[in-house]
Amino acid sequence: MLIQIDHIHFTYPAGVKALDDVSLLIQPGEKVALVGENGSGKSTLARHLNGLLRPQSGSVWIGGWQTTRHSPAKLARRVAYVFQNPDEQLFQQRVWDEVAFGPQNLGFSPEQVRKMVEQALELMGLSASSQLNPRDLGYSGRKRVALASAIAMQTPTLIFDEPTAGLDASEQEQLGKVIASLHQQGKTILIISHDMDFLAENLDRFVLLQRGRIVLDAPAQDFFSQKRVLEACGVISPQITRLSQALKQPSLALSVEQFLDGWE
Ligand SMILES: Nc1ncnc2c1ncn2[C@@H]1O[C@H](COP(=O)(O)OP(=O)(O)OP(=O)(O)O)[C@@H](O)[C@H]1O
Ligand SMILES: [Mg+2]
Repeated sequence: MLIQIDHIHFTYPAGVKALDDVSLLIQPGEKVALVGENGSGKSTLARHLNGLLRPQSGSVWIGGWQTTRHSPAKLARRVAYVFQNPDEQLFQQRVWDEVAFGPQNLGFSPEQVRKMVEQALELMGLSASSQLNPRDLGYSGRKRVALASAIAMQTPTLIFDEPTAGLDASEQEQLGKVIASLHQQGKTILIISHDMDFLAENLDRFVLLQRGRIVLDAPAQDFFSQKRVLEACGVISPQITRLSQALKQPSLALSVEQFLDGWE
């Protein structure tokens, strides 16, 4: 499903210009990282994709649907968005109910809902926690419930806002595998994060925002080669990439595996 953002502007009522003439085309099945300093407009841009915010000028299209012409409830069929903070999202008493809420609302049959929930719980390592209260889980557990709720909806597009915050190393690795599996199913994935190591290992295309404008949009290797732009925008490349750069490896490494491949 093609995502087309066309010259959008958005200023919050308090007068903060959060998006300033942003245009972006995301092809079906792309894995895109959205990065930039605090306050650069990442979450504001993401909220335009599920219709929580509407552009004050310009337009956003999700497939053939223009977001101003459809309710957020309808757009939820096409875009699932996981909030930065799981506690803003979770509201049910049982993990199972939380994850079932989206599919039920989309009108799937009880049998289909059961399958969708089971799959999502399994993928996020939550099968054994389905009867627990999300509030009794730790922060990373609640984060994984929020991710499972989005995945269960089986939308063609998924947006995760800071998904790795609070996850330990093995949970992050598991999330990387989940992203790879969603990608294999043909989903479009947009991830907002400050975690360059995670992004470099798992995503292909990088979009950099600065004060509400896109200043760089490039495949991962080209992106991390643009040292000056990244520095100006407060982006620090993964350690392994900096080491690869310092050693002038012919092909810039984005992961330890790539670094070792380039090691003669
Ligand atoms: N509800 C709001 N009301 C007024 N201003 C807001 C609101 N939400 C965000 N802003 C402002 O809009 C700008 C963009 O904010 P946004 O949350 O989109 O940035 P971000 O890139 O997601 O930042 P972070 O990395 O901290 O999550 C910032 O200047 C922010 O202070
Ligand atoms: Mg944000």
